[in-house]
Amino acid sequence: MAEISSETRFLHAIEMGLGAWQWGDRIVWQYGHDYSDKEVQQAFLAALSEGIRFIDTAEIYGNGRSERLLGQFLKEIEQPVLIATKFLPFPWRFGKNAFPRALKGSLGRLGVESVDLYQIHWPTPLMSIDTMMDGLAECIRSGMTRTVGVSNFGQTKMLAAYSGLARHSIPLASNQVHFSLLNRRVEKNGTLARCKELGIRLIAYSPIEMGLLSGKYSVSSPPPGSRARSYAGMLPRLGPLLKLMTEIGQDHGGKSNTQVALNWVICKGALPIPGAKNAAQAQENAGGLGWRLTDDEVANLDQASEAMTG
Ligand SMILES: NC(=O)c1ccc[n+]([C@@H]2O[C@H](COP(=O)([O-])OP(=O)(O)OC[C@H]3O[C@@H](n4cnc5c(N)ncnc54)[C@H](OP(=O)(O)O)[C@@H]3O)[C@@H](O)[C@H]2O)c1
Repeated sequence: MAEISSETRFLHAIEMGLGAWQWGDRIVWQYGHDYSDKEVQQAFLAALSEGIRFIDTAEIYGNGRSERLLGQFLKEIEQPVLIATKFLPFPWRFGKNAFPRALKGSLGRLGVESVDLYQIHWPTPLMSIDTMMDGLAECIRSGMTRTVGVSNFGQTKMLAAYSGLARHSIPLASNQVHFSLLNRRVEKNGTLARCKELGIRLIAYSPIEMGLLSGKYSVSSPPPGSRARSYAGMLPRLGPLLKLMTEIGQDHGGKSNTQVALNWVICKGALPIPGAKNAAQAQENAGGLGWRLTDDEVANLDQASEAMTG
């Protein structure tokens, strides 16, 4: 295990964050239909009052609305909050200078002078990894971000990013990837282990599999919008895993399936950032903290997830 650099140590101390894709997104999340600004502000405040201090947003979420809402909410609170946002590699963005320019736009919407983590949302074939890392290095040098990370980078690209930043003596702080009981690709292909080895924090997105692991959706009651189609094949097979999660939750004083799903991610050594549309969801999600599954329970959950995902 590599020594974690002093700049990125704070990320390793965070056990759970709050995802803000939901804030303003109408394409996947029905923003403005079953929830709106008021509810997401309440989600933010509920998360804060439960001790969650790390918020993950992106310039593309709600076309900037997520960052703007977070900026508004920040003005109304006293507590310090750690902010992570993301650069979208639009095809018309070329060269390293695109990064500080885009980050400046994010800072304007957020109403802050710097963020704690600036991530590349996903890799692009239109720029070399070294150019992208030169761009991130510029963002650090300009003082607009404390640390930098990547997202949706496979192991080879992640290692290239790590080396690209090392040329600037900058540590790669994180790789934000899909990781849940229903998607264990990064665990199986060695990315999670590699992150631990190199002191890179693996940030787990969709840790409750976009609501599926809460157990509230079924074949007869599918999730709304595009999720219905993308999860149509998975819903009929979820039963045994959900049943085991419920039994394990009961053995821990009545933890919900969602809380078991989040605790499992934490036990694997990753940082979950569940998204929440309202205060009740944010509060329940924070209950994934403060207790721990046993090693046997993790192994049993692994087995049940393996049986359904293969
Ligand atoms: N880097 C990337 O490419 C990338 C990709 C995806 C996500 N992310 C980040 O990761 C965050 C989390 O991922 P995600 O939003 O895709 O999935 P998620 O956290 O697994 O699921 C969030 C959704 O689950 C439902 N939910 C949340 N808490 C619940 C609870 N306690 N009980 C029941 N249902 C609950 C809500 O939707 P319903 O109520 O509608 O079911 C909520 O919108 C995002 O907000 C974003 O910041 C990043």
